[in-house]
Amino acid sequence: SKEELDEIYAFAVQLGKDAGEMLMDAAKVRMGDVGTQEQKEHVQKENAVDLVTETDENIEAFIKKQITTKYPSHKFVGEESYSKGASRHYLIDDTPTWCVDPLDGTVNYIHLFPMFCVSISFIHASKPLIGVINAPFLNQFFSSCADRGAFLNETQPLPLLHNPIPPLPANAPSSCVFSCEWGKDRRDTPDGNMHRKIESFVNMAAEVGGRDGRGGMVHGVRSLGSATLDLAYVAMGAFDIWWEGGCWEWDVAAGIAILQEAGGLITTANPPEDYARAPIEDVRLGSRLYLAIRPAGPSPAETGREGQ
Ligand code: IPD
Repeated sequence: SKEELDEIYAFAVQLGKDAGEMLMDAAKVRMGDVGTQEQKEHVQKENAVDLVTETDENIEAFIKKQITTKYPSHKFVGEESYSKGASRHYLIDDTPTWCVDPLDGTVNYIHLFPMFCVSISFIHASKPLIGVINAPFLNQFFSSCADRGAFLNETQPLPLLHNPIPPLPANAPSSCVFSCEWGKDRRDTPDGNMHRKIESFVNMAAEVGGRDGRGGMVHGVRSLGSATLDLAYVAMGAFDIWWEGGCWEWDVAAGIAILQEAGGLITTANPPEDYARAPIEDVRLGSRLYLAIRPAGPSPAETGREGQ
């Protein structure tokens, strides 16, 4: 019901704030602002670029405990629990599910590049209904709930940039800012994921319109290192397009909730080859490939959907 969802939203927002505070405290220790050298955590390696810190694990344990205490019947899917095999056989199905990345942008956090955050989503009937993203180093707190709008720092409706924004032209995403992540699959094979990403960077940025004359001459090409923040930035209107192949559900669920609530589009397609034809409606969590397109008009929250 509406009341139940409101209560879950309020709980998720508070959880995002508390977990963000934990993340900020841990970052301060990393910076040497507080604590001692001995307190500096060590970094474990899943592989050369897939890293986990004690902060990822501590924050996930905290969030999981809060959720399972308050909502024992809900399913919990967290990046760190999954990596350790605890919920390896989960499916995002009709069960009310919490999908959590306690620290998205772990490499950024390790290097103190400020694009890192806590990312929490609540999913029902396979749809991300609530998204909360707290990037404490940036003072950016994103939140959304189905049909209630998406917000930055709880007061500014998303997208921020709308005057209004025209829709992207189908096959020529010039004049936009494009974001694509490197991901963790760095196999150097000609048809591998990494090469496709490099190709899409080149296609977007090339002076002569990219391969086959499609794409080309975007204003900027970016790579933040946090998939969920990429999606929040598309929801803001700061990025026009984000694309990544190789995502897990916890990398994208909260960002998708926020993006959709801001009026943006999410699909499983490649830029710029087939995004105009992509089936926008049938995007499912569980895909590894996502393409996000920024909202094309004013915020749904500002056009009267809020409070309905
Ligand atoms: C990663 C980040 C990165 C993306 C990877 C993710 P993590 O998450 O979102 O930007 O390229 O696909 O796994 O490991 O920092 O939580």
